[in-house]
Amino acid sequence: TKPRIYITRRLPEDVVAPYRKDLDIEMWSETDVPVDHTHLQKEAVTADGLVTMLTENVDEELLGKAENLKIVANLAVGYDNIDVQAAKRRDIQVTNTPDVLTDTTADLIFGLVLATARRLTEAERYIKEGKWENWSPLLMAGTDVHHKTMGIVGMGRIGKMIAKRARGFDMNVLYHNRSRDEEAEDQFNASYATFDDLLTKADYVVCMVPLTRETEGMFNKNTFRKMKNTAIFINGSRGQTVIEADLYEALIHEDIAGAGLDVFAEEPISKDHPLLQLDQVVALPHIGSASKETRYKMMDLCLENIDRYFKGKSVKTPVSNR
Ligand code: GLV
Ligand code: GLV
Repeated sequence: TKPRIYITRRLPEDVVAPYRKDLDIEMWSETDVPVDHTHLQKEAVTADGLVTMLTENVDEELLGKAENLKIVANLAVGYDNIDVQAAKRRDIQVTNTPDVLTDTTADLIFGLVLATARRLTEAERYIKEGKWENWSPLLMAGTDVHHKTMGIVGMGRIGKMIAKRARGFDMNVLYHNRSRDEEAEDQFNASYATFDDLLTKADYVVCMVPLTRETEGMFNKNTFRKMKNTAIFINGSRGQTVIEADLYEALIHEDIAGAGLDVFAEEPISKDHPLLQLDQVVALPHIGSASKETRYKMMDLCLENIDRYFKGKSVKTPVSNR
């Protein structure tokens, strides 16, 4: 009998169809609404493989009940929603979707830099709300991106591609990472900086670290206080790397000048959230990797990993069990 695979969202049939030959695939009925956790727990009991979204909490409890489960393929590069250690103890393979989303995400994050600096979304609201009555010298005047200093915190694959884009804008690039990356320094003319040094020097502080115990809340009152008053904070990683109340305080007290956020501590964020009331905040609904081309590649990669696993081949993008 074919391995039984449960996908926690309804994906386009044209992605799934080629895999039905060798896999018995079922999907949650909804495309736009996450599977409810109780239903997922029930499905997990009999599934041999799961394709999960970042909206699912794949915790010890769920893994403990999943007696047949061999592999969890997460449709994201981040996998903080999965208890990887608990999976490892049960010999369950976890995979993610690196590489295929790197350039797409770097494009979006660089777009967020431009949008926040040059007030693009605010200016667009202004014109569509019929407020444009006169041209004036400082109408919607923002701040420059070119020739400024970008500080990238988390120089992974995506961080490096952001550095590459920054060089194209003649920016000076600083980075901070757990380990130095001399190849990246040569390739993108980026300079390693301590976290504090980066915070004090960067005009754009871009957070691209994975969410771990070490990075949770790393952007807080103290870090925002060290940044320039003119600095713009960009988050393309996970909302929980930031203490949002501290970010809000830093913005209203003008400790920093603006923020571009693709991720939030709680998603979806409520439209009444204090951060969303501020003109100097550009907010996006976690769309870093959301081009059609890339999302299709991510979906296919998840299924390809599962298909390979059950054919006894090595998966393409295993999550290393650090
Ligand atoms: C999205 O945030 C991802 O981790 O791919
Ligand atoms: C993480 O994998 C990244 O690509 O930055």
